[in-house]
Amino acid sequence: MSGNEVFNPSPEFSSRAHVGSMEAYRDLCRRAEEHPEIFWAEQAEKEIHWFEKWSHAFEWHPPFVKWFAGAKTNAAYNCLDRHLETRGDKAALIFEGEPGDQRTITYRQLHEEVSRFANALKARGYKPGDRSIIYMPMIPEAVVAMLACARIGVTHSVVFGGFSAEALKARIQDLDAHLVLTADAGWRRGKELRLKDAVDEALKECPAVRDVIVYKRTGAAIHMQEGRDSWWHELEAQASADCPAEQLDAEHPLFVLYTSGTTGKPKGILHTTGGYITYTTCTMKWVFDLKEDDIYWCTADIGWVTGHSYIVYGPLSAGATCLIYEGAPDTPAWDRWWDIIERHKATILYTSPTAIRALIKQGEAWPGKHDLSSLRLLGSVGEPINPAAWEWYHRVIGKGRCPIVDTWWQTETGGILIAPMPGAVPLKPGSGTLPMPGVLAEVVDFEGKPVADDAEGFLIIKRPWPAMIRNIWGDPDRFQQQYFSRIPGIYFTGDAARRDKDGYFWVLGRVDDVMNVSGHRLSTMEVESALVRHPAVAEAAVVAKPHEITGQAVCCFVTLKLGDWDHHKLGLELRQWVAHEIGSFARPEEIRFSESLPKTRSGKIMRRLLREIVTTHTVTGDVTTLEDLGVVTKLAAQHDED
Ligand code: WTA
Repeated sequence: MSGNEVFNPSPEFSSRAHVGSMEAYRDLCRRAEEHPEIFWAEQAEKEIHWFEKWSHAFEWHPPFVKWFAGAKTNAAYNCLDRHLETRGDKAALIFEGEPGDQRTITYRQLHEEVSRFANALKARGYKPGDRSIIYMPMIPEAVVAMLACARIGVTHSVVFGGFSAEALKARIQDLDAHLVLTADAGWRRGKELRLKDAVDEALKECPAVRDVIVYKRTGAAIHMQEGRDSWWHELEAQASADCPAEQLDAEHPLFVLYTSGTTGKPKGILHTTGGYITYTTCTMKWVFDLKEDDIYWCTADIGWVTGHSYIVYGPLSAGATCLIYEGAPDTPAWDRWWDIIERHKATILYTSPTAIRALIKQGEAWPGKHDLSSLRLLGSVGEPINPAAWEWYHRVIGKGRCPIVDTWWQTETGGILIAPMPGAVPLKPGSGTLPMPGVLAEVVDFEGKPVADDAEGFLIIKRPWPAMIRNIWGDPDRFQQQYFSRIPGIYFTGDAARRDKDGYFWVLGRVDDVMNVSGHRLSTMEVESALVRHPAVAEAAVVAKPHEITGQAVCCFVTLKLGDWDHHKLGLELRQWVAHEIGSFARPEEIRFSESLPKTRSGKIMRRLLREIVTTHTVTGDVTTLEDLGVVTKLAAQHDED
């Protein structure tokens, strides 16, 4: 593959697609751009059930936006109740646990489960405006937990099961949640991921939590605290299955999802109800070209935004059948995914470049053992997909038949903003291609002026879209400052990009101190603050270094307090320490000890130089502001000794 190849949609694919030609795509874009109020009101009416309608589609007072204000709806109602008549017996979820247990749950059964659990929450006094934390394995009950909260207006915040007790505690405290939904444990590579233990640890410093509800997944021996902890199955057994969905304002907070920013403190991204459910439903159809008989599989975890928008809310609102898998791709062997696709006849696979690269490394024999002919569409998310990974995904998994939708978006955007509509838009490997209708994306310079074709710049979005972030939980100043101050009043993505002469976007990566490890966002500051909490560490600077599988890996430069340290032992300990403080996905690849760190005369650590050292092993850039050049020479030389 030359890297410049263009893949046109096949006539068969286009003829069946929701949007089947460039003209149709352009027409949607033109209407959305010229009359956004009319366009989005039409989409909202067509795709979503409303108990009451709005008067204006949106009100935009930067940085704050309201979509469909005054209207009433409910996300869970849209995902469940409205399907009962036409899709009641259709599978909503097909679940496979890591040990091999399987369950198919129809829309009617899911509706009943959710209603029962929602009543159990109501019986304990939870109501619209309250907040919950969901810390669960990838099992159907995680979906039930989210939808039950949405049904009664409790704002949920899902914390990825791989986060540590420390990280969990910080989120519970920031959100001031009184309710925690969890499980005893989940399965990961044949071992128990002991979630309830982590909850117990976190709650030592969260006195506001009144209720912990525990789903029994593995049967692990756990501690249940009298008066605070109850079993999911016991509460559910007592609850009725009749629980009408709360009629909520379109701007009612649906969820908060914490993500890394440029400081050590994660930020709670707030999403609301009406605009979010409208946008995720529309993009589910546009990008995944969803059909009634599709078996759709997104391999993300519900702890990340991809799991929220494209495992739960988007697909279920669109009436899809979703596969969910609890465990690791190599358990019991490296063909687990291909086996799942073959047995369940999955038609759409949505995954990340980092997963694809890990699978490539295991060789083509694994997918070769399975019949993957049910697949018709492939998706990618989380980071730029490199040409080699694209080519393999297309040839080995898609057999050259399946379009690949490379979807660019963020926790803040709520839904996919740049991606091909696969029946209309020709693909260029490595490019997210063109924006969704109504998404006015542009590449600009420092002053906000558009740059020339093919030139690098900042990616911005000029107009609000229905699923956009509404606020940072409890911190409107940070919200304004972070997203709307670089170019006043305009959404700043934090990504660098270029746009080619055909208008295709090529996202190049972050322009801030946010790393992307295995498609997961992690800030350098977060890892640095974790490191300096260790008693041996005086100072730390963290940078990302390129990594063959995970895209980027965490590399730490550490100076130690006075003492007689065994560097080898301490290196291992610090890697474990970061995993303990944040979560195992944040475990540094490398710890380098140094007597000092390169700093400017005003005392700022020059991460740029450290980045250069880990990528090129030399320093060529401007070092005139550096206080002590000797530090850099030593650090660069260190690599050669390694
Ligand atoms: C990066 C994940 C290139 C980007 C949905 C963005 C991508 C950050 C792509 C958001 C893609 C995500 N191509 N880069 N297709 N998708 N990114 O919040 O840097 O976990 O800003 O949301 O991931 O990560 P987040």
